[in-house]
Amino acid sequence: MTSAPAQAPAPTPAPTRRRRVLDAIDERLGIKALAYPVPEHANTLGWSLGGVSAVSLVILIVTGILLAQFYSPIPEDANFSVRRIMTEVWGGGFVRSLHFWSAQALYVTVFLHMIRVFFTGSYKKPREANWLIGVSMLGLITLALFTGTVLKWDQEGFEALEHNVGTGRFLGAIAGAWFTPEFADPLPILIRLYSAHVVIIPGLILALLALHALLVKKHKISPHPSLPTDPSGEQSSEQEPTAPFTHHLRRISAFGVALLGILGIIAVLLPPALGSQPVEGLEFTRPPWTYWWIFTVENWFGLPGLIFSQLAFFVLLLALPFLDRNPQRFWRRRPIVMIVALIVVFTMIVLTLLVPFLPPALHLA
Ligand code: HEM
Repeated sequence: MTSAPAQAPAPTPAPTRRRRVLDAIDERLGIKALAYPVPEHANTLGWSLGGVSAVSLVILIVTGILLAQFYSPIPEDANFSVRRIMTEVWGGGFVRSLHFWSAQALYVTVFLHMIRVFFTGSYKKPREANWLIGVSMLGLITLALFTGTVLKWDQEGFEALEHNVGTGRFLGAIAGAWFTPEFADPLPILIRLYSAHVVIIPGLILALLALHALLVKKHKISPHPSLPTDPSGEQSSEQEPTAPFTHHLRRISAFGVALLGILGIIAVLLPPALGSQPVEGLEFTRPPWTYWWIFTVENWFGLPGLIFSQLAFFVLLLALPFLDRNPQRFWRRRPIVMIVALIVVFTMIVLTLLVPFLPPALHLA
């Protein structure tokens, strides 16, 4: 009896042209390496807020570059140049409004991201350095909002500048000189604040963001805090289901498109105001809402209140990973730190809400 001839293996189909192009690109850029596994909980909105902040930052930078083509930082022309952007440049009013609203969105999403990181104890070992980088970025975002307010050179912007100068003089020659006009006299201080707003601050934010992302990759997203811990308080994500990081990127892009849509609508409906040329010696405006809690403290204690309340806030944030030695990450097992945080947030909210009820006070006289 003769045995049946062995069947030849089916030939593998030749790769399609599209596949070949994609493989050639991947060979050079290594895009497939982005499909590494991340725990599934990283795809929820709360754990994607860092990515949503990054989208706000991108919108902010793109609109900022467009505005910089038409803005003039010369004090005599600054306010008029913003008005020209709004009335004479095609789409200028919308771009300015989108820049303003994406700055608000960045502030809000970064704060919410920080609250998530706090709530899930993700600033603990080994992520302390990334928390410090995050706090530094928050400080820079606060400075970007401040310098941006000055640039429009209306009464609100001018009074913000006077606070800048007052702070510089209070801090003295070594710490505060840069913030005063004398530092580079006769160059107008507005020009230096403009360079800080468009080059120094965004440059530092982007450099820190690169480090932030590298450390997220190195330490991996923190495991879900509800996972069981070993006796030393360590957790491992290995028991969690995973999804490719490319899926996470797609989720963030979807959140980002939704954010852009919402900001676009708000930008059309609520364009930011622009006052007329400032008058020196007057003080009657309020700062943007992000500074209201400090404004109340300043109403009570003057310029030192403004300086020391911010300093205390940032020192507390920087010290958090070193003060909180409890290895537990689940919020119910960290009652002390949760109560302190609640008191801080509650105080900031009350100080913010008080602003409309406070009588106007002079800080700069
Ligand atoms: C421009 C501002 C920021 C951007 C774009 C950003 C971006 C990100 C991204 C994409 C992640 C991955 C996880 C996630 O999306 O939740 C992350 C994680 C992290 N961020 Fe940020 N971040 C910013 C500011 C901050 C701030 C202000 C803090 C804290 C003060 C902070 C602390 C951390 C820490 C500790 C992690 C690791 C969290 C974990 O593994 O669960 N970040 N950040």
